Amino acid sequence: MTRVVVTRVVPDAALAELAPLGDLWVSGEDRALAPAELHDAVRGADAVVTMLHDRVDDAFLDAAGPGLRVVANVAVGYDNVDVEACRRRGVVVTNTPGVLVDATADLAFALLLGVTRRVREGDALLRDRTPWSWSMSFMLGTGLQGRRLGVVGYGRIGQAVARRALAFGMSVAYTARHEVTGPAAPPAVRLPLGELLATSGVVSLHCPLTPATRHLLDRDALRSMRRDAFLVNTSRGPVVDEAALAEALREGWIAGAGLDVFEHEPAVHPGLLDAPNVLLTPHLGSATHETREAMAVLAARNVSDVLGGRPARTPVT
Ligand code: DGY
Repeated sequence: MTRVVVTRVVPDAALAELAPLGDLWVSGEDRALAPAELHDAVRGADAVVTMLHDRVDDAFLDAAGPGLRVVANVAVGYDNVDVEACRRRGVVVTNTPGVLVDATADLAFALLLGVTRRVREGDALLRDRTPWSWSMSFMLGTGLQGRRLGVVGYGRIGQAVARRALAFGMSVAYTARHEVTGPAAPPAVRLPLGELLATSGVVSLHCPLTPATRHLLDRDALRSMRRDAFLVNTSRGPVVDEAALAEALREGWIAGAGLDVFEHEPAVHPGLLDAPNVLLTPHLGSATHETREAMAVLAARNVSDVLGGRPARTPVT
């Protein structure tokens, strides 16, 4: 009997696609499984639907055994998966690109607006019952119009954020391995990372986490940013050296940050929690009802493709 494992509660629409495929096991716990629990759960599986916190490595693949055919990760990012180890064993890896573009771009822009206009500080002031009155100089923020958005990683999400920025009157620069052209690409100038960091009023990160991008924004990179610039990160936490970022915010190397992802999730560096000029959300980039359902259904369809002997619709290449 084909065994399909889902490591965490997912929307019913995805389970409905998976149920006819075989013996379906879904974790009853809506929490990340510890490695030993995960390995127990995947034993003998033909297909596993994984979450971004599940480590898919040799230990996972050993536990699953030789019958494993597909790992369908419910995320566009797949830095939790050792793709090469899967490839060696003939296991197809899939992710969920496309369906979360707008949700993630919306959240990046929410962070961008929230931090530049001091929304969190204003909300906290009122909740603290702090006396206040309107004045010409009260709680001033930073306008976006005419400022440059620097997008690091100009894939679909980066471009969706660029479109929003253009609608807000910003100009856009991006850094990417290849020139992005074509009628659908938002107008933007491609710059080397150093020039982008030195000239952007807001830097928004949209690159995958790879060995090359780990700590891409390290101490030196943060120091090279403008003192009035803001950093937004909705990609992966380890792209930024979090301790260096805490120092940058404390020392005023940059003006502020909006962060949805963290280097050691779910932990957050205490220096970020204490900083007034930071807006924080707990990895909510794709967290809308519609998007999460679409992600889970796409993962389920990838499982169905592979178990049905067809090419996966969104394989990781
Ligand atoms: C992704 O898909 O990689 C997102 O981080 C999930 O929220």
